[in-house]
Amino acid sequence: MIMTGTRFGRVLQLTLAIIKPDAVAHPLIMEALHQKILENNFIIVRKKDLIWRKNDSERFYAEHEGRFFYQRLVEFMSSGPMRAYILAREDAITRWRELMGPTKVYRARYTSPSTLRAQYGLTDTRNTTHGSDSLESAKREIAFFFPEFSVQQWLEVDEPCFRTGQMEYDQERQIHTPLKQI
Ligand code: RTP
Ligand code: MG
Repeated sequence: MIMTGTRFGRVLQLTLAIIKPDAVAHPLIMEALHQKILENNFIIVRKKDLIWRKNDSERFYAEHEGRFFYQRLVEFMSSGPMRAYILAREDAITRWRELMGPTKVYRARYTSPSTLRAQYGLTDTRNTTHGSDSLESAKREIAFFFPEFSVQQWLEVDEPCFRTGQMEYDQERQIHTPLKQI
C-alpha cells in the first residue's frame, strides 16, 4: 500500500511502545492493538517480538525499585513474550500515552473508556501497554530494545520521507518503510 502527500507538519517524534505479556498472550488482542496503532496514524518504524529475562525487567524498571508493585511488575514483564515498537508521529510520546489511558485499569475504564488499557487491560500490573514518558526516556528505552537503531540517522534519512508521506506499509513485516528518491 503506497501513501503519498499526507503529512507535511512538524518534525516527527519517536517513542517506544510495548505490548505487555498479558496482551501478547492473546493473538486477537495483539492484532487489535496493532490495528489501533495504524488507525491512530502512528508510523511503525521498528517492531520486535521478544521475551525478557528477569534481569532485563529489573534493569528496565530500575526507577521503580522499592515501590510496592516492583516485584510483581518485574515478574510479570518477564513471564512471557512481549512486543516492542518504535513509533513515530507528531507528539508521539504524548499521543501514545493518551491512547494507552491511565495506568490503573479500573480508573481507565471509568474516566477514559475508549483507551487501550480500559478496553484490554486486566489489572493495575497487567495493563496491556507501556509508553515512554519523556524525550529522555524515549531515547533510553529505544536504545534498550533496539541498540542497533540510530535515532540521528533516522532523523536525517528517513524522517523527511515519513513526514511528507513518502512511505508504504509493508504488510509482511508489518512496519512502514520510506520511499527514498533515487
Ligand atoms: P508504563 O511505564 O508501563 O508506560 O506505565 P505508566 O508510566 O503509566 O506507569 P508507571 O507509574 O511508570 O508504572 C509502571 C508500571 O508499573 C505497574 N504498576 N502497577 N499495582 C499498581 O498500583 C501499579 N502501579 C504501577 C504498571 O504495569 C505500570 O504500567
Ligand atoms: Mg512509566
